[in-house]
Amino acid sequence: MEEGHTKKIAVVGAGTMGHGIAEVCAINGYDVILIDLSDEILRSAIERIRWSLEGLAGRGLIKESIDVILGRIRTTTSYEDAKDVDLVIEAVVEKAEVKKDVFRRLDAIVRTDAVFTTNTSTIPISELASATSRPHKFAGLHFINPPVLIHFVEVIRGDKTSDECLELIIEFVKNIRFKYVVLKKDVPGFLINRLNARHWIEAIRMFEEGFDIKDLDAAQRFRLGFPMGVFELLDFVGIDVAYFAFNEMIKRGFNARISENLKKMYEEKRWGIKTGIGFYDYSKFKVYGRPVILPSDKIYRVNPYRMIAAVVNEAAWLVRNDIVTKDEVELAMTAAMQWPMGPLTWADRIGVDNVVSILNRRFEETGWDEYKPDPLLESMVNEGKLGIKTGEGFFKWNYERHKVGATIYEKRHDHAIITIDRPDKLNALNEAVWEGLRKALEKAEEDPDVRAVILTGSGRAFCAGDDIAMMSKWKTIIDVREWAEKYAAPLIEKMVELKKPLITLVNGLAFGGGLELNILADIVVASDDAVFAIPEALVGAYPPLATSGGLGIISKKLVRYALTGEWMSAAQCKELGLVDIVVPPDQLEVVGIEMIVKILRAAPLGVRAIKTLAGAYRRTYENLMRIAIQELVSLSMTEDFTEGTRAFVEKRAPRWKGK
Ligand code: NAI
Repeated sequence: MEEGHTKKIAVVGAGTMGHGIAEVCAINGYDVILIDLSDEILRSAIERIRWSLEGLAGRGLIKESIDVILGRIRTTTSYEDAKDVDLVIEAVVEKAEVKKDVFRRLDAIVRTDAVFTTNTSTIPISELASATSRPHKFAGLHFINPPVLIHFVEVIRGDKTSDECLELIIEFVKNIRFKYVVLKKDVPGFLINRLNARHWIEAIRMFEEGFDIKDLDAAQRFRLGFPMGVFELLDFVGIDVAYFAFNEMIKRGFNARISENLKKMYEEKRWGIKTGIGFYDYSKFKVYGRPVILPSDKIYRVNPYRMIAAVVNEAAWLVRNDIVTKDEVELAMTAAMQWPMGPLTWADRIGVDNVVSILNRRFEETGWDEYKPDPLLESMVNEGKLGIKTGEGFFKWNYERHKVGATIYEKRHDHAIITIDRPDKLNALNEAVWEGLRKALEKAEEDPDVRAVILTGSGRAFCAGDDIAMMSKWKTIIDVREWAEKYAAPLIEKMVELKKPLITLVNGLAFGGGLELNILADIVVASDDAVFAIPEALVGAYPPLATSGGLGIISKKLVRYALTGEWMSAAQCKELGLVDIVVPPDQLEVVGIEMIVKILRAAPLGVRAIKTLAGAYRRTYENLMRIAIQELVSLSMTEDFTEGTRAFVEKRAPRWKGK
């Protein structure tokens, strides 16, 4: 323990929180007076502490012996024993009258220069402070259950809390090696419970709309990367605790509505793990067991960003009102709630504009002003501060934008996005696209910051395939060979050897060469309304990649579609193995970002090795691909090729000569 002003601490209330707080203080070298109503409660608290210390010792997490640590805790039922402490941490039942009474009595006994703190979750700090003669030496100190494992506190300023008092508390918090945030103003639910409330309330609403809790939990775990699903967490926290806290917050002005379902669950004592049933049924488990939650395609039918958007909106309110800083929001949710990234970073990743549009949609659907986007979010959208995609959102990001041939190359901090940009021609592949794509991929490959690449199309189409206008300009075999050698082969080669993961986001039509680009991508995400086809044979041409690498890399079933030119839905392409994930159109962009985030979590060397091997596998088809391009070159000199492309342009049925 560093030399601080606080040496001796009284922890009042030895229940769930109090015993844990006393344990943390003792582990960190403080002498603790642990106070409760009866010796029996105190004995049980010490037993719980001993049990917990044994667990920590078993994992090598404490340096001293259990007896030395326990030797620092003295239990008592008499407040008199707290008279010479430097700091009081109150953790008695959540009843204002009881707490006030405790503080009134302690105020008369404890040294006048000692600081008082309360672990209340819902009662105004200043209201409790007013029960003492030392409101300037009074603050909130809100721990998270269990404090032995979650080393984080919210420090809350009351109306009269002095700077000196705050300094002393922060010194103590640092000495117990906790992370912390300081709320400059006492607001109902403080920081963490306000954000949790938005998260959980939105999840419950989605459940009430008919989504399965397992799918919602799976989406939260497997898409967003949370350690626990939201309903698992609610059952763990306790429906009674959440219901009570939400109600108290609402009474104090927090703008939210509690669902009838939650009320019913509360009344029926379906409180979660503690009563054997909550959102899940635990009755079959002898000890606490976790529900089995598995990933499935259904998780893409859920939009988990509704929950994130609701949290971001609340966080924006807190930041705009100068209650906490942006960094404090991020720290609190990652350190205390184990969010995989802070909500504001999340907003920057998925786009502040996306957050605002989700909120606006919810507002239109419900008419509830709790969904109205905070003015901070709106002003960010107006100023173009959309997050990573513009280089600045809540935070600053490395951003570059270049026009490369007929593509747009954007460096978005740690990944690149390449957009085929000929929307008026359905992004058809002409020389400028072929070359632009290759150069853009080279740019991504050269930039050490770029860890993965997204490829998509602007406007309604992903890519309509080779530009017939370009093809109809081919006069001699030399023209076609030049096209093959200068444009087609180098791009294919680049895609095969690319050392960074390539994700395609198929936003619409992907025909012919447009479909074929996906054959060489690592992850293909397609929107529900994307449509695929390999219609080359219908215009007298031929799909070189689909019939070479495509058969081996994707499926021999592609032959059918190459022969008939039949259209395929995204779902059919998923069955074939061409598409990996099918998503609602409004989630295409975010699912692409999710893939990036997941890849960023993986070890770069592992990713590189996977890409090297995937490249080597694709290269085993190199010879076939070369033959296939030759085939196209010779085919393009036939009369049928000319007839086919002409008929296509003239919108009539072609008349074939070749047999
Ligand atoms: P608890 O019910 O487990 O413990 C409360 C303890 O206070 C009991 O042992 C009770 O005997 C004792 N007590 C009651 N009146 C007393 C008095 N006049 N003098 C001394 N001791 C008295 O409750 P829990 O969960 O530990 O909550 C305590 C406080 O911590 C509450 O203010 C709660 O809102 C807050 N809190 C609880 C969290 C949780 O997850 N349980 C998380 C963060 C804060």
